[in-house]
Amino acid sequence: MQKTPFTIFIDKLGSAIAKKELVKLVVARPRDPASDLKSLVVTMIEIKAGPRLNFVYHHKTKDITKNYAFDEGLAVVLKSLEEDFFNADLFASAETVQMSVAGRGKVKIRTTPVAPKAMEITAHDHVKERMISTAGNVYLRELGVLNAAFEVRREMSDKFRQINRYIELIGPVIAELPLREGFHVADMGSGKGYLTFALYDYLTRKLGKSPVMTGVETRADLVEQSNRIAEKSGFVNLRFVSGTIADLPLEKIDILIALHACDTATDDAIFRGIASGAALIVCAPCCHKQVRKAFNVNSVLKPVLKHGILEERQAEIITDSVRALIMESQGYQARISEFISTEHTPKNLLITGKKVTRKPAEKKKILESIRQIKELYGIKQHYLEGLLERGGSGR
Ligand SMILES: C[S@@+](CC[C@H](N)C(=O)[O-])C[C@H]1O[C@@H](n2cnc3c(N)ncnc32)[C@H](O)[C@@H]1O
Repeated sequence: MQKTPFTIFIDKLGSAIAKKELVKLVVARPRDPASDLKSLVVTMIEIKAGPRLNFVYHHKTKDITKNYAFDEGLAVVLKSLEEDFFNADLFASAETVQMSVAGRGKVKIRTTPVAPKAMEITAHDHVKERMISTAGNVYLRELGVLNAAFEVRREMSDKFRQINRYIELIGPVIAELPLREGFHVADMGSGKGYLTFALYDYLTRKLGKSPVMTGVETRADLVEQSNRIAEKSGFVNLRFVSGTIADLPLEKIDILIALHACDTATDDAIFRGIASGAALIVCAPCCHKQVRKAFNVNSVLKPVLKHGILEERQAEIITDSVRALIMESQGYQARISEFISTEHTPKNLLITGKKVTRKPAEKKKILESIRQIKELYGIKQHYLEGLLERGGSGR
């Protein structure tokens, strides 16, 4: 049978599976923009019947999981590549393979060996003491990060690393804050709650603090599941509520967290942190559509932005730099750091803002920087500025 770029990609996937080197496969960018199915993530798992490929189908409002035998799974992936999606990223321990279908159906495949440094880090991770302990950890077991013997499941090792990295980054910052007894942490867009549970666990067990924590999530099924796990874990002051980041009524927020909340939902969250005078704001932005659409460039930057991918990256940089500057203008000391290696996700920035006292002259200088950046990119308004002007989403 004649090879096509799709079957070449499938051969690489098959080889990674045979060598037990598959970390994960992400198939994304549906060919049909109206498709309810947004992406597909494939990992290797071990079930009673033997090793299988675990498929998680991410739909607009729900996830569906299926397990396949290897050959059957490879056939399903091939069909998805040929008919349903434009992009596929294969992460294996020795290489990453990116496949994309461009205009006129031209398919590109790029293979990149994993840098030795990244492999060393992985090896080092095995011996490193973790911020979150696995021993008897009920929430990590309930969330499927650990197996019944409280060991990290192979296919969840990235997630476990992300959880620990998150705590490594924000744990020390929180430890230094002067917080009142029963301080309130709001985690906006808490999703399945991996990071919410881990933070509650760390604050109460490792730091001996007594926070009250709220996970805010639109999806009622996740809220229900998370409340059940919180109860099973004995986390009495952690609750999850169904509602939107912008509008759910909440008591005073001392620490505002928003990790991977979509586009301007991150701004809604930052606004609520600022409006509540939170001592700490932590966000990991997701997509950056608002600023990208607002670009109106007629300067020397025009040729840079004519390439879609560079325009997208510029939008990310400008959105997040302006967010950080706005936070600074509102009396926060902002810091942007790498959350987790880009090898695992492109959404890898963490913006933290610590409340400080800012002199009016400093504020004026920051506002002028924001004005100049917006002028350079022809942006009329950053969404967060609009929220601050209006005093929130709908008011
Ligand atoms: C990508 S997940 C991130 C989950 C979690 N914060 C993490 O980083 O692991 C984003 C979650 O935010 C929720 N979400 C998105 N927009 C929201 C909004 N405006 N209000 C409340 N939840 C929202 C989604 O339903 C989804 O579960």
